Amino acid sequence: MWDARLDYPPRINCVNAHRTPAVANLLDSESLSLAEDYVYLPDAVRQAREDALVSLGEAPSNGVCAALVFLARMLDAKAVVEVGTGAGVTGLALFAGMNPAGILTSIDSEADWQLEARQAFTAAGIAPRRFRTIAGVALDVLPKLSDGAYDMVFVNGDKLEYVEYVAQAARLLRSGGLLVLYDILWRNLVANPRNEDDETVIMRETLQSVQDLGDFTPLLIPLGSGLLAAIKD
Ligand SMILES: C[S@@+](CC[C@H](N)C(=O)[O-])C[C@H]1O[C@@H](n2cnc3c(N)ncnc32)[C@H](O)[C@@H]1O
Repeated sequence: MWDARLDYPPRINCVNAHRTPAVANLLDSESLSLAEDYVYLPDAVRQAREDALVSLGEAPSNGVCAALVFLARMLDAKAVVEVGTGAGVTGLALFAGMNPAGILTSIDSEADWQLEARQAFTAAGIAPRRFRTIAGVALDVLPKLSDGAYDMVFVNGDKLEYVEYVAQAARLLRSGGLLVLYDILWRNLVANPRNEDDETVIMRETLQSVQDLGDFTPLLIPLGSGLLAAIKD
């Protein structure tokens, strides 16, 4: 009997081949904007986004935060790894969806950011036992985490290390766990083969590596600067 899963995901070159021909009913930028702003975020996440926009000039988009709430809730995630704690915006979104007893392990090379994130978590009423912030370079820390112990791995760290993060996530996730990579369409540069800056090339290699691993079922979600969600077999 034919097993569709054996042919999935389809083996395509992420960049050069197999483009969907232009059709009239693809979403335009207004529809994508509506999708970004349709969801009302929990107050703590919304506030953290606004604070980050003021202090940093950037923050994960509304739609991306909503997707993280949704995905963590769908999994009833009890153990999540985050690469790139930053100001804690995405951490708060993950907490909003996770199981009420779930624990977030969040890694960042900048201890100062983690201090800010911990303050944001505490202000949002998250008990300290639920967050484990680890100051360090992700590729030093991830290998020390346990195999198959996590429901979800969310990546928002150094773009140039994304391929290695995927390899680590494949080890860390349980069967049925979810890998989520942010910035995968990096500044709208990834889809155009004429762009060849380092981050763009690594994002393409990352997309390819998820397919090549063969034990992930991926979905590319056009929110923010692109989310790749991939369920581990
Ligand atoms: C875009 S910010 C993350 C934003 C965060 N998710 C939030 O919601 O506020 C990227 C973060 O990755 C951290 N970072 C960069 N390179 C790293 C590395 N090699 N290992 C760990 N963290 C890294 C930076 O210090 C920065 O805080």
